Amino acid sequence: MAKVKTTFFCQNCGAQYAKWQGQCSSCKEWNTLVEEIVQKEDKKGWKTTDTSSKRTAKPLKIKEIDGSQEMRMSSGGMEFDRVLGGGIVPGSVILLGGEPGIGKSTLLLQIALHLPFKTLYVSGEESQKQIKMRAERIFPDSEQCYILTETKTQNIYKQIEGIEPDILIIDSIQTLHTDYIESSAGSISQIRECTSELIKFAKETGTPVILIGHITKDGHIAGPKILEHMVDTVLQFEGDRNHVYRILRSLKNRFGSTAELGIYEMLGKGLREVSNPSEILISKTEEDLSGTAIAATLEGMRPLMIEVQALVSTAVYGTPQRTTTGYNVKRLNMLLAVLEKRAGFRLGAKDVFLNITGGISIDEPAIDMAVVAAILSSNEDIAIEKDICFAAEIGLAGEIRPVQRVEQRILEAEKLGFSTIFVSKLNKIAIKNPKINIRKVSKIEDVVGYLF
Ligand code: TYD
Ligand code: MG
Repeated sequence: MAKVKTTFFCQNCGAQYAKWQGQCSSCKEWNTLVEEIVQKEDKKGWKTTDTSSKRTAKPLKIKEIDGSQEMRMSSGGMEFDRVLGGGIVPGSVILLGGEPGIGKSTLLLQIALHLPFKTLYVSGEESQKQIKMRAERIFPDSEQCYILTETKTQNIYKQIEGIEPDILIIDSIQTLHTDYIESSAGSISQIRECTSELIKFAKETGTPVILIGHITKDGHIAGPKILEHMVDTVLQFEGDRNHVYRILRSLKNRFGSTAELGIYEMLGKGLREVSNPSEILISKTEEDLSGTAIAATLEGMRPLMIEVQALVSTAVYGTPQRTTTGYNVKRLNMLLAVLEKRAGFRLGAKDVFLNITGGISIDEPAIDMAVVAAILSSNEDIAIEKDICFAAEIGLAGEIRPVQRVEQRILEAEKLGFSTIFVSKLNKIAIKNPKINIRKVSKIEDVVGYLF
């Protein structure tokens, strides 16, 4: 019997060691080394033809390189294409991460069903029947989508040779295992090996591969960090599971900007693309309610109008409570301190609750002025008119600071029918004949003077 070769892998960063040690010397985490069996045989992973011996790469001048093959395949979904930078690049490997139950399988199955190409959807998590049930809800008459339940990569390649799909989707990389490594599915060495086989397949055949990846409890994609380096694009699907909105972000993209963002709504019949997110994020109540203000924010390259709700009440317990949903509580405390010290509002003995509607979270400083306006509106119990919005950061001295790309925010507010937008006096604005009233302010007191 051949000698079994084992190696110790750090479950955090994927570093390899010949011997066990308490601390990983690469990422400095303790107790993360786990022994895994690795067997080095001559590998038969994905192989079409062995071109490596015939073809050796030659350096070319940038002008000489043929740039014409970079044709992108449209996924049939505007939001998905936008996040990828204009469609799927042939031969690229995309990794989609997200919390359990957020809708990763739903998103990719939906894309697979709508694609105008031959697609192979490989699932190691659900049976063909279960997938069929889901597909029936989403888009029952797809012609070109093949479903396979398999976890062994060698069997998947056998099927690929028969079907010759234009796109391969794997749900999920953690369930795959290759014959050439002994350790169990989901272990670091299996994930690394299966991914590198799939990358080889993608690059040799020009077939794009989309992988689903599980994430760990602190939000990173499970498996070695090197996984994220190996693939071309890393996408993250996120959102609050209690809400219907989901956001698709790109964390890394070799073929486009990472600033783009896709928004979806989870319905009974799958995910719906939300092409005008500002409309859904502003609740449409008829009456004027105190404690709400609208912020003109930017998520990536996209302007987004977001409603901020605040509730200020007298503290029942000795220590006042400060609770936020979708907003950093430290930032809220800072803004409250500024209001107390610079604008003379006595909020120290009050409970303050803050909520960003729609279940999304925002950490852009441009939301500051809307937060302050919502707090003051609740504190004074005076509603802010519905057609007013805000886009400015607040500094520690109570000064109103400019925000980036203010013109884009103003134009979005104008398009959505707002009559007034508050911005910092220091922002330079070159919009000719704006229909919206642009109020430039430099101190919190100025805003208070206008509003109440
Ligand atoms: P799923 O795609 O299985 O999540 P993941 O693969 O990320 O673990 O689906 C998650 C949830 O989506 C599930 O709890 C039910 C819900 N869902 C809908 O609301 N409508 C639908 O049409 C589908 C298919 C799922
Ligand atoms: Mg799933």
